[in-house]
Amino acid sequence: MSLRLDSRIVLNNGVKMPVLGLGTAGAEGKRCVAAVREALRIGYRLIDTASAYGNEKDVGTAVRGSGISREDLFVTSKVRNGDQGYESTLRACGESLRRLRMDYLDLYLIHWPVPGKRLQTWRAMVELLESGKARAIGVSNFMADHLEGLARESAIVPAVNQIELSPFLRQGEAVAYCRRHGVQVEAYSPLTRGRRLKDPTIGALAEKLGRSPAQVLIRWSLQNAFVAIPKSVVAERIRENADVFNFELPAEAVKTLDGLDQDLHFDWDPTDVP
Ligand SMILES: NC(=O)c1ccc[n+]([C@@H]2O[C@H](COP(=O)([O-])OP(=O)(O)OC[C@H]3O[C@@H](n4cnc5c(N)ncnc54)[C@H](OP(=O)(O)O)[C@@H]3O)[C@@H](O)[C@H]2O)c1
Repeated sequence: MSLRLDSRIVLNNGVKMPVLGLGTAGAEGKRCVAAVREALRIGYRLIDTASAYGNEKDVGTAVRGSGISREDLFVTSKVRNGDQGYESTLRACGESLRRLRMDYLDLYLIHWPVPGKRLQTWRAMVELLESGKARAIGVSNFMADHLEGLARESAIVPAVNQIELSPFLRQGEAVAYCRRHGVQVEAYSPLTRGRRLKDPTIGALAEKLGRSPAQVLIRWSLQNAFVAIPKSVVAERIRENADVFNFELPAEAVKTLDGLDQDLHFDWDPTDVP
């Protein structure tokens, strides 16, 4: 069945997650509220925030004014590095919920695999899951080794691993691990933070397909079965980034894009985090 903006994938605990969402890193205040409102208006239902982004209050404001019922939304937040640890994670989740003015998160993630802390943090995440404060829990920036370490200590498999992904950074090992263990991969910075939108290979494909470079990159994520969360605060781009369900990248184009892999990170590379 072909994907649509309202398509949802089923996570390993049965919770359904939209396949495309709005990223909000770097968006704050009125711009954030307006971007989230516009996204919700045109049919986005997944909003990705984090305590580290300083915009949970704005996301909450936008959601409340949207007229969309809470059950139809999917809100993700993350515990920041400084809050990792057992008690502090429980507290941090409560604070995120208070800023968002929500009773629960749809997905709560460990933002980064902080050494020496992440196992205690995970214990708190499991408690948040059990108490209903989070409908699903997961991790972010976890590579295969980090996931292995977690699996040795806990029987609860993360529902999602949110990692940086684009044709320039295919993260083969982490993605393969997630696929083998039923962890949904979510692609952050799917547009390379805007830094490779002028790449000639992407440009040529976009032109051939009559699409924009951003749309080609988002389709690449979706066709790899990654949930994608492109960020924009520009209404026209928010619409453009969601207008990706009426075309497909031919197999040949996916192959060409896959050939661009060069381990190119625009965010911190967590590979060597012990
Ligand atoms: N878990 C983590 O550690 C982590 C790390 C990074 C990001 N994330 C999440 O992933 C989301 C997306 O990643 P990201 O924000 O780093 O980068 P991104 O989505 O790859 O790219 C965003 C950049 O591209 C521009 N842009 C958006 N749509 C465009 C279009 N159609 N045409 C041209 N330019 C366009 C945006 O500018 P305008 O806003 O001006 O349109 C912005 O500068 C974040 O917002 C955040 O929610 C998570």
